[in-house]
Amino acid sequence: MKRTILVTGGTGYIGSHTCVALAEHGYDVVIVDNLSNSSSKVVDVIKQLSGQNITFHELDLTDTEALGEVFDAHPIEAVVHFAGLKAVGESVEKPLWYYQTNLVSTMNLLEQMEKHGVWDLVFSSSATVYGDPEQLPIPETASTGATNPYGQTKLMIENICKDVAASNPNWRLAMLRYFNPIGAHASGDLGEDPTGIPNNLVPFVMQVAVGRREKLNVFGDDWDTPDGTGVRDYIHVVDLAAGHLAALENLKEGWDAYNLGTGTGASVLEVVKTTELVTGKPVNYSIAPRRSGDIATSLADPTKANNELDWRADRNIRTMIVDAWNWQSKNPEGFGD
Ligand code: NAD
Ligand code: UFG
Repeated sequence: MKRTILVTGGTGYIGSHTCVALAEHGYDVVIVDNLSNSSSKVVDVIKQLSGQNITFHELDLTDTEALGEVFDAHPIEAVVHFAGLKAVGESVEKPLWYYQTNLVSTMNLLEQMEKHGVWDLVFSSSATVYGDPEQLPIPETASTGATNPYGQTKLMIENICKDVAASNPNWRLAMLRYFNPIGAHASGDLGEDPTGIPNNLVPFVMQVAVGRREKLNVFGDDWDTPDGTGVRDYIHVVDLAAGHLAALENLKEGWDAYNLGTGTGASVLEVVKTTELVTGKPVNYSIAPRRSGDIATSLADPTKANNELDWRADRNIRTMIVDAWNWQSKNPEGFGD
């Protein structure tokens, strides 16, 4: 019997890569997504890449009734919860929308899980819960604190899950604190397709390389880093997807949190240089003021996930850029809708 996994936000960037991995590993995948930040075309791509059938329900997680019907219709055994709003700047402008969407969605989900006796959850948290980190690399035991409403929702959801875990010993909840996911499926058929102007570095750099944008603004060259530009722990989205499988297969009673990162950093200028080498295209940039809320360096200590989940992110920055470029050059307009 195949295990049925509900994937919320499964047509999104990280969710879709995880659905391919789950389906390839013999899980029955049921996706729910409201398509607010993704394309329905992704469902067919997941089917093609995995060679498996996938069930898709278009629904908003804030709709409790519709969500309950999905639990009634499928023998769901575990949930991987990606769905939510994720743009830091937007969360500062529209905090209530972020709290409403991210918190209510998650509470509805947990409620339906409890009602239907589904106790296993893997949640998309973020390195943003560490705020401006006091130590590098950052272990899971580091202090937490959010600097914007988006980050607050991640911390609040982690805490809600902690309380839920304490209420019933059946619960098994893993919080995955992602560092900076980039890259794409090696086929070039699945990748990140942000709407509007990309907020994140690599999608922006790719759009400069492909000719959709004129130049990159580098947000500050006076950070306390080797070349003065921000350093991040970039992780290949396919390695990240494998991290979800590992978390699902190593869930233990109660609540736990894991860093998913490589432990190695790259600066903004290193990403620019690597992109130029890989693509053979110039990436024009100019130095701009620091972006509000940014930090100098973010680096994971992934030892806990390496040991307890038997998982490791192996792909290096060059492979991440090669795969991101393969996706971008094959699909200059993304999924085109
Ligand atoms: P994404 O926007 O590509 O995917 C999220 C999906 O959720 C989208 O398909 C969207 O349509 C869907 N969605 C949003 N609100 C919904 C709702 N109310 N009901 C149903 N579906 C809804 O984002 P992503 O980059 O794949 O991120 C997935 C998760 O990982 C998010 O929770 C995000 O906060 C978290 N995360 C992402 C990053 C990153 O850099 N991409 C880093 C850390 C954590
Ligand atoms: N950067 C630029 N120019 C740009 C975009 C980014 O110079 O146009 C720089 C940033 O200043 C930073 C680095 O590139 O130094 C990476 O920035 P990203 O926006 O790609 O990533 P962040 O680390 O700021 O944030 C990401 C996610 C957050 C998440 C955080 C921690 O967007 O949601 O990682 O996991 F919280």
